[in-house]
Amino acid sequence: MKKPLMAGNWKMNKTVLEAIEFTKTLKNTISDIANVEVLICPAFTALYAVSNEIRGSNINLGSQNFFWESKGAFTGEISPVMIKDVGCSYVIIGHSERRQYFAETNEAVNKKIKAAFTVTLKPIVCVGETLKEREDNVTSKVIEKQIREGLFGLTLEQASSVVIAYEPVWAIGTGKTASPDQAQEIHHFIRKIYEQMYSKDISNKLRILYGGSVNSKNVSDLMNKPDIDGGLVGGASLEVESFTKLIRYFK
Ligand code: PGA
Repeated sequence: MKKPLMAGNWKMNKTVLEAIEFTKTLKNTISDIANVEVLICPAFTALYAVSNEIRGSNINLGSQNFFWESKGAFTGEISPVMIKDVGCSYVIIGHSERRQYFAETNEAVNKKIKAAFTVTLKPIVCVGETLKEREDNVTSKVIEKQIREGLFGLTLEQASSVVIAYEPVWAIGTGKTASPDQAQEIHHFIRKIYEQMYSKDISNKLRILYGGSVNSKNVSDLMNKPDIDGGLVGGASLEVESFTKLIRYFK
């Protein structure tokens, strides 16, 4: 059985103090949780403080981004080595906001995934179509390209530690969610591509998260679908109460 992963993507939110406050409360609220892997991804500035706060708890730490070089003259960037050093075990790569506002390409995503493996960070690779692409009926084409180019050249071992997040761009932060059936269809499609690229075994073990306006009302219908193995959550991960409801969705 795959352990579901519930990941909070805080995006550009929370000061250091707010992040500490949140983490202290979450730690106590979910201390009994063992059957779901819990991950929070704060902004860079709060990583160190949150890392100290989660020590000995069941909360994992992830970064929302990094640059692929390990060090050097890249003003304003943060390296995989630094992200690992601060206590992260995961990194989100290729989020649609990075693709959209910071011109991140599948090629950049590929470099970042490979860079993550140099320091044993687990990549959460985001894929998803825009509204226009869905209306033009090219959703599966777009997603297949994002996966084949993004994951190009990975070893079987590397492919086994990737997590994919399907996040339809039109559902992010909009309150519009893909229906559980729409999400399941794409998740199943992603698993098929993974099987073609690697093997049935690796594809069966792949965790595919759904992201895009996940909330306490839609979480169980989404998570009950056979190919949905967790969530990547923005808005509803910012308050302990709403995030806890998602973590406890199975009850
Ligand atoms: P949302 O964001 O839950 O606020 O829609 C999801 C994401 O962008 O990861």
